[in-house]
Amino acid sequence: MWDARKIQSFRQTLLDWYDREKRDLPWRRTKDPYKIWVSEIMLQQTQVITVIPYYERFLDWFPTVEKLAEAPEETLLKAWEGLGYYSRVRNMQTAAQQIMTDFKGQFPSDYDSILKLKGIGPYTAGAIASIAFGLPQPAVDGNVMRVMARLFEVDYDIGDPKNRKIFQALMEILIDPERPGDFNQALMDLGTDIEAAKNPRPHESPVRAFSAAYLNGTMAKYPIKLPKKKPRPLRLQAFIIRNAQGDFLLEKNNQNRLLGGFWSFPLIESSTIGQQLDLFEKKDAVILKTASQKELFQKEYGIKAHWSKQTFKTVKHTFSHQKWEIELVEGRLQNQQPSSERQLKWVAEKDFTAYPFATPQKKMLEAYCHQKK
Ligand code: ADE
Repeated sequence: MWDARKIQSFRQTLLDWYDREKRDLPWRRTKDPYKIWVSEIMLQQTQVITVIPYYERFLDWFPTVEKLAEAPEETLLKAWEGLGYYSRVRNMQTAAQQIMTDFKGQFPSDYDSILKLKGIGPYTAGAIASIAFGLPQPAVDGNVMRVMARLFEVDYDIGDPKNRKIFQALMEILIDPERPGDFNQALMDLGTDIEAAKNPRPHESPVRAFSAAYLNGTMAKYPIKLPKKKPRPLRLQAFIIRNAQGDFLLEKNNQNRLLGGFWSFPLIESSTIGQQLDLFEKKDAVILKTASQKELFQKEYGIKAHWSKQTFKTVKHTFSHQKWEIELVEGRLQNQQPSSERQLKWVAEKDFTAYPFATPQKKMLEAYCHQKK
C-alpha cells in the first residue's frame, strides 16, 4: 500500500480535478439527506442524464420523507414509471415509513442507522453518510471498483459480491476525511466518464500517475470481470381486447413479483404443460392436446372474443434475468363482461395516463398503435 504522503497527494490531485471539472448536478446543490438519498437510489441502475427529470419531478411530488411515506401506490409507481427496478421505489417508501416511526421523520445521521433502512446497502449508506453528513464512509459501486482495480491492479472479479470488501478496505484507507462526499463523487465522475467501462480515455485521467495499470500498460486487463449468466428467454402472449366503445381491457398485476402493481394488457406465458394442468381440471384433460393459447386465455378470463386476423411484430424486452418475447393478439368483445377473479378494467386510450405502465406495456402499446390497420 502507498505511504501517507502518496495517499495525501492522491487525495489532493483527485479533489483539485473535481473542483475544476465536477458536473453541476441538481443533487450537488443540496445537503438534504432525503434529496441525496432519492438521487442515489435513482442513480443505481440509471444514467445521470435520464435521472435528472425524474429526480426533479419526484421531489416535486414528494418533497419530504413524510409525503413519500404517505404516497398512494399508484402515484409512487407513476413517479418511477420507465425507470425500472421498481422494488427500489417500494423499498424507499418502506424506509420513509421507518424514518417516520423510528426517527420522528428526521433522516438518521449515523452510518449504522442509515444502513438499517429498507433498500439501503453499504453503497447508498456510504454515499448519504459522506455527502449529506460529511462522514468518512466510502461509497463503493461498480464504477469505484473499476477505478480501484486499475489503480492497484486488483486481481479479483469485480462482479463477485464477496470481493466488494477488498475494494471497501482500499477505499477506507484512501478516502479524504476532510471532504469524503466530494472524494466519493469525484471517483463517481471519474468512473462514469474518463474511466468508464466502455471507451475509457486513460491518458486524460487526472490520477494516471498513481495508476499501476496505466503505468504498467495493463489497462486492458483491469478490472477483472467474469461473464454473468444470460437472462432466461420467456415467450408470452398479450391479449389486446377491445369492447364496442373501443376501450381496452387492462389488468392489474397483483402477483407481488416482477411488475407487481402495474397495469397491462392481459399477459400469459406461452403454454407449458404445467400451466395447462393448472388451468384445466382433470376431466378437461383431453383439451390439453388441442388447447391453443387463445382458448386458455378465454377460459382463464371467462370471455369469448372475436379474434382479428392481423399479426403484429413481436415485442421484445430484456430484464436483468429474463428476456421477454411478446406476441400481440387482438380480439373484440360485444356487450360481454369478463368473469374472472383477476383485477380487470375497461379503459379508454385517453385515460391511460392515470395507470402506471411499465416499459413492456409501453412497448406493446406503441407496437399496437403503430401497426394497427
Ligand atoms: N452516481 C451515483 N451517485 C452519483 C452522484 N452523487 N453524482 C454523480 N453520479 C452518481
